[in-house]
Amino acid sequence: MKDAAPHTIYLKDYTPFGYRIDGVELTFKLHQTATRVLSKIAFAPNPEAPDTTDGKRFFLHGEELNLISAKIDGVPVTPRDVAGGIEVDVPDAPFVWEAEVEISPETNTALEGLYMSNGMYCTQCEAEGFRKITYYPDRPDVMATFTVRVEGDLPVLLSNGNPVERGEGFAVWHDPWPKPSYLFALVAGDLINHPGAFTTKSGKEVELNIWVRPGDEGKCAFGMQALKDSMKWDEDTYGREYDLDIFNIVAVDDFNMGAMENKGLNIFNSSCVLASKETSTDANFERIEGIIAHEYFHNWTGNRITCRDWFQLCLKEGLTVYRDQMFSGDMRSHAVKRIEEVLTLRARQFREDNGPLAHPVRPESFVEINNFYTATVYEKGAEIIGMLRRLIGDEAYRKGCDLYFERHDGQAVTIEDWLASFEEVTGRDLAQFKQWYSQAGTPRLKMEESWEDGTLTLTFNQTTPPTPGQNEKNPQVIPIAAGLIGPNGDEVVPTTVLEMTEATQSFTFEGLGARPVASVLRDFSAPVILEREIDNDTRAFLLAHDTDPFQKWEMGRALAKDTLIAMIVDGTEPSHAYLDAIKSVLVDDSLDPAFRALSLGLPSQDDLAQTLVDAGVSPDPQRIYEAREQLRHILADHLQDVLPELYQENETGAFVPDAEGSGKRSLRLTVLGLLSLQDSGATAKALFKRADNMTEQAGALQALLSAGLGAEELQAFESQWKDDRLVMDKWFMMQVAFAAPEKASEVAQHLSQHPAFTIKNPNRFRAVFGALTANHAGFHHASGAAYRLLADHLIALDALNPQTTARMSGAFETWKRYDADRQAMIRAELERILATPNLSRDTTEMVSRILSA
Ligand code: TRP
Ligand code: ZN
Repeated sequence: MKDAAPHTIYLKDYTPFGYRIDGVELTFKLHQTATRVLSKIAFAPNPEAPDTTDGKRFFLHGEELNLISAKIDGVPVTPRDVAGGIEVDVPDAPFVWEAEVEISPETNTALEGLYMSNGMYCTQCEAEGFRKITYYPDRPDVMATFTVRVEGDLPVLLSNGNPVERGEGFAVWHDPWPKPSYLFALVAGDLINHPGAFTTKSGKEVELNIWVRPGDEGKCAFGMQALKDSMKWDEDTYGREYDLDIFNIVAVDDFNMGAMENKGLNIFNSSCVLASKETSTDANFERIEGIIAHEYFHNWTGNRITCRDWFQLCLKEGLTVYRDQMFSGDMRSHAVKRIEEVLTLRARQFREDNGPLAHPVRPESFVEINNFYTATVYEKGAEIIGMLRRLIGDEAYRKGCDLYFERHDGQAVTIEDWLASFEEVTGRDLAQFKQWYSQAGTPRLKMEESWEDGTLTLTFNQTTPPTPGQNEKNPQVIPIAAGLIGPNGDEVVPTTVLEMTEATQSFTFEGLGARPVASVLRDFSAPVILEREIDNDTRAFLLAHDTDPFQKWEMGRALAKDTLIAMIVDGTEPSHAYLDAIKSVLVDDSLDPAFRALSLGLPSQDDLAQTLVDAGVSPDPQRIYEAREQLRHILADHLQDVLPELYQENETGAFVPDAEGSGKRSLRLTVLGLLSLQDSGATAKALFKRADNMTEQAGALQALLSAGLGAEELQAFESQWKDDRLVMDKWFMMQVAFAAPEKASEVAQHLSQHPAFTIKNPNRFRAVFGALTANHAGFHHASGAAYRLLADHLIALDALNPQTTARMSGAFETWKRYDADRQAMIRAELERILATPNLSRDTTEMVSRILSA
């Protein structure tokens, strides 16, 4: 078969597949370099497809397959090789396709299709990996039931659905729920299960397992509890029950992303499921809980109801992210969770929207779909669901979801189908709302206030800057949650949702005694950039009195940002308004410690760089770094009388990875970061020695590293953890992330020579090179050394793993922000990557889009 030449695929060109499938039978004869895959598939003409009778184009996807034999209705046939697969002449009636192919899991370094990780066989089929397993219509709108026989000399043989038969050297699985090929999975290896059980609300007993390599069985209990909590939550909150006799999760070390929702057999990057207090931080625990929930929730939003085509990816991802966010909020704290969500949305999605990779939540074209598993599709996609719910209310939201599940169960559908359910239950026209899916870019929302005779008028103006391929933008429906705080600090108008639909629109609040302060975009009710004239005293006032935790935090953040920008631009000293406001939040015992920790955090260097660009200033990464370091020292001085006490007070005792404990540790470790600037690291060194959990051990080490200390501790850490690959990822990552700007590329280069470094493991690669790109001043150091080093490694990785290479090339997406010298250096590296012989379609698309800025 020929390679699929890169070409652009358009949403508008969608047509249904000409055949439907009445059942798939697969047999795998596992072998490291020569696995045989036998398929037997019952096809029938699809009456809903246009032109099947004389079109007769029976095309099956297939890549890197060695075809041994093929038959139609038992008669051998010779398929024609065409781009991306094969074509065969078939009868104009139901027929059975049989094929035997050979594939080589051992040499599959792309981690897509069937591959090997540490001696175990595993699969990753989303989005288009099934075509590397056998010939098939590898598209999400072709749904079928699968029966899978796995033959191999390994103790554990798993696939989707329910177990049917098990014998010496084989196992048979049957999945009764029709599914697209991207949800297929197979795992075989020497694995140990951590068992569990769940009884659904209708009384069905479900066997649960987390499968891991021997040695990891002690790290499964937390994930198992998270799974049970997720199952219960989906029943209570969405009325959704699990639908098989068994639910398996497998931890795999080599994995391109976080995890995958294969029906009944979720496969996880081991970093996203294995947890123990000794080896995982609070942040790890929180992330693991969220990802387990995410993959489990896909069982309904993604699997039972799937996407018609990959342009509809946000249908399952945006919705499922929204669901996991709500779950995490219920499990922990909604206020803290919301602030964290906004931090990542701004850091990743706003950044994407601002550059050459900006695209709509539902893109209209792509070359390689793997490049569209983005912050925009996932995180902005989730924001759209949140806005919809805020606009129609909780009850209508639940009704609309119920209708969607009822109406589309077993189908592959579109965003139009999703919205139609809500139009039906509310009687609302969602046509304008739907633009959130088609219009790229982050709306700028400018607010002006006027006050007259007891009436406050808020006037908003919305504009969205042009993005690639979209110059003109229309007004969006923006739900603006707002409340008013009176001069004495009491709330005079509680949160109401102002529904903006025009380019410019005013809202009035009447009958007010004295001029209140408006608290606007509470809970970050829309993914927009709010611009308002507001002085520091008013910010400090809202920071002290706002009842909305997000806005309270936001005001502290705005103060910090302005302070830093002024320091960077003209060396202005930090204002007392900021320093005093932060101090009062920090010592306010009535506030959640996690919230206080978040308030003490400073905006990232990347965020400051973008803010400078927006203000028309060319960002100097070194200067940004220095100003931020200087502010940390000033804060440490200003807070010195309260830091030791805060550090003492927030000791947690026995480690429990819950919201309360993690909040206290987060505050304590943030405090420790500042304390370390003052006590030469004495407190952090002591904590490092004494810590019985990774949160404190890594937290102490980070505090030391960010104070330019910690060399001894780094060594101790390495000798303690050299056999634990997930903890070693932290060791690699921290050194690069906290390296001084002029050292960062040297440290990364040095670590890439370490015996424990391997380019083949995405976690390890990301630990070093992801950390390098996250070290803003280090990555953008004037020497250009980091640009070169990253490009060298992307070129090397592309030959092995295009998907991870393409994803990491996104580090260059902000290149147009910087000065001419840096732009020239980055352009040269991007062009060098693009000129690499046989560069993958994935990386070619990404680098070309970035260059076209
Ligand atoms: N669908 C997965 C999720 O959101 C993510 C995913 C897409 C993925 N493509 C992948 C995971 C490739 C691993 C590899 O949970
Ligand atoms: Zn997902």
